[in-house]
Amino acid sequence: MYVCVCRGVTERALREAIHQGADRMRDLKACLGVTEQCGLCASHAKQILDETLPQKSQVQNFIPKPVCICETAA
Ligand code: FES
Repeated sequence: MYVCVCRGVTERALREAIHQGADRMRDLKACLGVTEQCGLCASHAKQILDETLPQKSQVQNFIPKPVCICETAA
């Protein structure tokens, strides 16, 4: 579903950008161009950001942290 018609940005593209590091509306604006023209997409884009950020941190908690071999060898 398109969130930003002016820039042709989909909900999926927004969620992918958030999972890749876009944590603020200004990040989404910079990388995808949302809100740059008419601005009608702002509230929906913010809603998706607010929904996706908590999911992102849950996923990150399940990813095992890499262990440095140097630390275990000592
Ligand atoms: S719908 Fe996003 S700037 Fe117009």
